[in-house]
Amino acid sequence: MKERTLILIKPDAISKKLTGVILDRLLHLDLEMKGAKVREMTEELAREHYSNLAGKPFLPSVISFMRGDLNGITDHRVYAFVFEGEDAISKVRAALGATDPAKADPWTIRGAFGCFKDGVMQNCVHASGCKEDAEREISLWFNPGEVL
Ligand code: TYD
Repeated sequence: MKERTLILIKPDAISKKLTGVILDRLLHLDLEMKGAKVREMTEELAREHYSNLAGKPFLPSVISFMRGDLNGITDHRVYAFVFEGEDAISKVRAALGATDPAKADPWTIRGAFGCFKDGVMQNCVHASGCKEDAEREISLWFNPGEVL
């Protein structure tokens, strides 16, 4: 089924110069890039993005990692993309691997470039988990005219 997914390259991956290698892997999935932008991960945006984690004890650390603060990154830049195509959500999630990089297969993006550190799964990239999440996240990160 043709579907869209939101992908975020997190500040930690940007600072480690992993954007190119991550995008290279994603671009080989035979999906189309429909939207791309650089956006500041404000505290408010991070909380809204992870509204499903509200109340979890690890949420403050996740937000600190998502903004970059946990790793001393102060510009809070995130690269956001919308990819579209057949089974886009499951294809991208398979390329990412498990949420916890320590448990992800080593040939996946999170397995190759992520780690578990300072109590947080520092997993380089976010991608939507299901169709409902994808549509909610795309409308949170992109204005309608920005996705072609
Ligand atoms: P989640 O939405 O469950 O995973 P995914 O990113 O694979 O959809 O969790 C959001 C982020 O929170 C996840 O990327 C890593 C972090 N996290 C932790 O640091 N510890 C945890 O126990 C969980 C469940 C998530």
